[in-house]
Amino acid sequence: MMNKKIINPFNILVCFLVLSACSNERVDSKEKEYSDQSIIPATAPSTSPSTCTDDCSPLYELAQMDNRTPVPLQPMMAWHQKQNMMAHLVAIEKIVGALADEDWEKVKRASATIESSPQMAQMCQHMGSGALGFTEMALDFHKRADAIGVGAKNKNAKAVLKATSNTLQACTTCHATYKQDVVSADTWTKRTGSDHVPNVNPGASH
Ligand code: HEC
Repeated sequence: MMNKKIINPFNILVCFLVLSACSNERVDSKEKEYSDQSIIPATAPSTSPSTCTDDCSPLYELAQMDNRTPVPLQPMMAWHQKQNMMAHLVAIEKIVGALADEDWEKVKRASATIESSPQMAQMCQHMGSGALGFTEMALDFHKRADAIGVGAKNKNAKAVLKATSNTLQACTTCHATYKQDVVSADTWTKRTGSDHVPNVNPGASH
């Protein structure tokens, strides 16, 4: 008796409307998710045809315009690189601000975050393993930054400025030369010719 009551044309119509509203909502939220993702570099779909699963034509268009040398990176590596880059720019901001105040300790502290170190060298090696010349350019950049700390130690504003300018030249040269190319772990392994995760076995003889 109860069942008979529910099944009438009005209820069927309501049911249909609810269902179609639900499915529309699902499509909308999927589209929203996709467009949100496309502004976050680390999760944006790859420009590589083999891994593109959605409408990638705008990315192809961009890739064709941007003819810098691609640096293959897995998504997590690409995100780490972007975070490093943002930190590099913060370092420059702090160096320039501290220099204006002649706060030499602060200049040194900020410069230390971009100066060369064994850890920095290891990371640059890892990031550049799929692009010829990238690692060398990265190491040269950190070496140029070393002179900023030296200038600060000598309380020599002109030397700090010169070294900062020289360092910025390494930033802009690299940016003019390379672009990120976000790829899958498999593609990264193929493109870097590496069949192992780099740096996990430093004792191995190569
Ligand atoms: C050895 C190469 C190299 C050097 C040196 C370098 N960068 Fe970058 N940087 C890159 C690459 C590659 C990208 C990614 C470009 C792209 O979007 O494809 C990048 C991107 C950036 C971005 C954009 C980050 C984002 O959120 O999209 C900033 C900011 C940046 N770099 C700042 C700097 C500063 C400041 C310096 C120097 C103090 C510097 N970089 C030195 C290679 C380099």
